[in-house]
Amino acid sequence: MPRARMEKEEGEKHLALLKLMQILSFLVVFVAGVVIGLATTSHISRYFTSQTELYSLINHFSVPTTRVEDNCTGSDICERKDCSSFQMFIHPDNLTHAMSDDELFWRASMVSKKENYYPFKRVPKVAFMFLTRGPLPMLPLWERFFSGHDKLFSIYVHALPGYELNVSSSSVFYRRQIPSQRVSWGTVSLADAERRLLANALLDFSNERFVLLSESCIPVYNFQTVYKYLTNSAHSFVESYDEPTRYGRGRYSRKMLPDIKLQHWRKGSQWFELSRALAVYIVADTKYYTLFKKFCKPACYPDEHYIPTYLNMFHGSLNSNRTVTWVDWSMGGPHPAMYGPTNITESFIQSIRNNGTQCLYNSEITSVCFLFARKFAPSTLEPLLNLTSSVMKF
Ligand SMILES: *[C@@H]1O[C@H](CO)[C@@H](O)[C@H](O)[C@H]1NC(C)=O
Ligand SMILES: *[C@@H]1O[C@H](CO)[C@@H](O)[C@H](O)[C@H]1NC(C)=O
Ligand SMILES: *[C@@H]1O[C@H](CO)[C@@H](O)[C@H](O)[C@H]1NC(C)=O
Ligand SMILES: *[C@@H]1O[C@H](CO)[C@@H](O)[C@H](O)[C@H]1NC(C)=O
Ligand SMILES: *[C@@H]1O[C@H](CO)[C@@H](O)[C@H](O)[C@H]1NC(C)=O
Ligand SMILES: *[C@@H]1O[C@H](CO)[C@@H](O)[C@H](O)[C@H]1NC(C)=O
Ligand SMILES: *[C@@H]1O[C@H](CO)[C@@H](O)[C@H](O)[C@H]1NC(C)=O
Repeated sequence: MPRARMEKEEGEKHLALLKLMQILSFLVVFVAGVVIGLATTSHISRYFTSQTELYSLINHFSVPTTRVEDNCTGSDICERKDCSSFQMFIHPDNLTHAMSDDELFWRASMVSKKENYYPFKRVPKVAFMFLTRGPLPMLPLWERFFSGHDKLFSIYVHALPGYELNVSSSSVFYRRQIPSQRVSWGTVSLADAERRLLANALLDFSNERFVLLSESCIPVYNFQTVYKYLTNSAHSFVESYDEPTRYGRGRYSRKMLPDIKLQHWRKGSQWFELSRALAVYIVADTKYYTLFKKFCKPACYPDEHYIPTYLNMFHGSLNSNRTVTWVDWSMGGPHPAMYGPTNITESFIQSIRNNGTQCLYNSEITSVCFLFARKFAPSTLEPLLNLTSSVMKF
């Protein structure tokens, strides 16, 4: 009996010792866990301050021996390098490049075979493309128009080479100039500049609609209305009509035969609005563009005929054949009316927004036909700024 008791006591002692050891080892593991945890969170809070730095953290862990993070620690240096190349590929934020037009147009005309699929959350944007000689006098008006809609638009400015827009780094126009070339109004270099704007804007895969604007253009509706109108439209807005006079058909050259026939020939305002699909077709075209370059010379103007004719030949069903940029030709002569400060009244802007004409939008009748208007002298800026909240609603 006592032997058995002794054995039992021994066994109990042994068990107690084991329990102590278990508790001790738990303690060691727990403390180690706390230490590792603390070390990691301090690491994370040091690195996770921006997306690009997150990328550097990934690099840091996956390729620990090559010290790739050396070029990525200063966050804005990182953006200049190729540290997040997929982002740079789908959404280049530096518009400066050294590509020739030929290289640029080739790259911009590439379309993914994965139709309507994107490996990122794509919010369609409207590209506002400003074709200007120099300053943009309406810039404060546009800034007010864009204010608060950051993720829904991109701006591109083609000014004459050497001209630099002087805007503060907080402006939506800051660093939005594209590499430009000389433009002589009335020559094919104007169509080149339009295609250059389209091609640069196509490099951003989120851009879905492309509007061409000049320094004398103004918006007559607010951003939400313009955005909805364009992104929900089944058609592009390129004016395209047959003009059986010397100002239309009279500019056609039989040297364009057999590729372009007189019955294909169209005229339309230079100030277009295009869907992404049509923008790609235009940037990708060499054959018809070359014919215009060779045979459409004053009094033939490529900017008034090339895109309207080309779309009419191949993509007519995707075009509304009307423009969304209002202009006043009622005075006659070669140039449309230029409005000055005394012309700017509430009822005048209201009459552009809805002047009684009706038009088709997605095959239904609407009285909203014009989203933009020209031509407005620089001195109209102040009276226009006074009207934005009461008439244009921005
Ligand atoms: C960092 O950038 C410099 C200059 O661009 C380059 O010479 C160097 O190899 C880069 N370092 C690493 C680790 O990539
Ligand atoms: C943009 O890219 C150009 C050339 O590719 C380069 O010279 C310039 O420094 C870059 N600008 C910024 C702000 O990164
Ligand atoms: C740019 O604008 C600022 C402030 O409006 C002015 O001080 C500066 O002189 C301008 N720079 C140039 C090159 O025009
Ligand atoms: C625009 O014109 C084309 C012919 O080029 C035609 O096929 C198309 O139906 C017209 N668009 C509309 C909306 O009427
Ligand atoms: C603008 O106002 C001026 C002066 O009031 C007037 O002479 C001119 O006809 C107006 N222009 C247009 C296009 O209405
Ligand atoms: C409305 O504007 C368009 C475009 O300028 C013009 O053709 C049309 O005659 C105008 N309608 C009225 C009623 O003023
Ligand atoms: C703009 O509006 C203000 C106040 O309503 C007025 O004092 C000013 O004269 C207006 N300016 C112009 C150019 O109409």
